[in-house]
Amino acid sequence: MNKNAHRNAEDSRGRRAMVGGKLSFSASEAYKLLRTNVMFSLAEDEDGSRIFGITSPIKGEGKSTTAINLAYSIAESAKRVLFIEMDMRLPVLHKSLPISKAPGLSDLLVGSALLTDALQKSGIHDDLYVITAGNLPPNPSELLGSERMKALLESFRERFDYILCDLPPITVVSDALMISPMLSGMIVVVRKNYTDMRALDVTMRQLEFTQVKVLGFVMTFDDSGETGAKRYRYGNKYGYKYSYRYDYGYYAAAEKRRREEDRRKNSSKTSPARENPEQKP
Ligand SMILES: Nc1ncnc2c1ncn2[C@@H]1O[C@H](COP(=O)(O)OP(=O)(O)OP(=O)(O)O)[C@@H](O)[C@H]1O
Ligand SMILES: [Mg+2]
Repeated sequence: MNKNAHRNAEDSRGRRAMVGGKLSFSASEAYKLLRTNVMFSLAEDEDGSRIFGITSPIKGEGKSTTAINLAYSIAESAKRVLFIEMDMRLPVLHKSLPISKAPGLSDLLVGSALLTDALQKSGIHDDLYVITAGNLPPNPSELLGSERMKALLESFRERFDYILCDLPPITVVSDALMISPMLSGMIVVVRKNYTDMRALDVTMRQLEFTQVKVLGFVMTFDDSGETGAKRYRYGNKYGYKYSYRYDYGYYAAAEKRRREEDRRKNSSKTSPARENPEQKP
């Protein structure tokens, strides 16, 4: 998904508009392509409405942006869609849509709000409804993995054709893994020149463990210069090459450890000349 398509999308109040009708033609086309792929991938699931999640290995890879635009695109195809913000630690949906921040999912799960209050119209499409993360709870993982969560999702099946869960990153908190077994599928977002391949490996192993069906990968921040739908990448393999950039403490520390280990190994080798001149120290 192309960088500029999102940068150009701001509303008259200068809000960070990243949604649906405000996107460029090429971005909308890319989301349509993603929609088609997702709809086909979920077609085998015959148990009513399709409940799927979007996650990524680390923070800031474009999950929420991809998720809300995909939800909008599905609603455009005359399906009833529910978007659930499941990042109960850093809720942001209310900043992008004309909706209230709370009550939301956490309030529903602890029984302090009614569905009629928590379920909101998205304000950007008649067939797109949203539930925000709600008031910040102390125990998001537990709430997401609870029987009550399961029952809530089941109750949505009758009312919506697609239910899209916007999840936190896999390697940072366990929330996404807790809910994975309740989903018909999962999309994994990777950000070009940013996603750490090892974090992606960890992510895939964790998801495999929960047995959720991985529907495919979306590559974001792709400014390769290709036009239209080609800017967007979707695949079922994760063999892309990534360059590394660590913005988050945990990964920075892990990378430091790995480099120190590599340095130790290299210094124990006898030959002073590097065989590959392009190899970085
Ligand atoms: N495909 C894209 N191209 C360019 N910019 C993007 C793209 N997707 C998202 N962004 C921008 O990147 C930033 C982070 O995006 P977003 O909030 O969707 O990421 P996230 O993975 O949900 O983050 P978090 O892990 O914090 O939930 C936002 O400013 C968003 O506008
Ligand atoms: Mg997000």
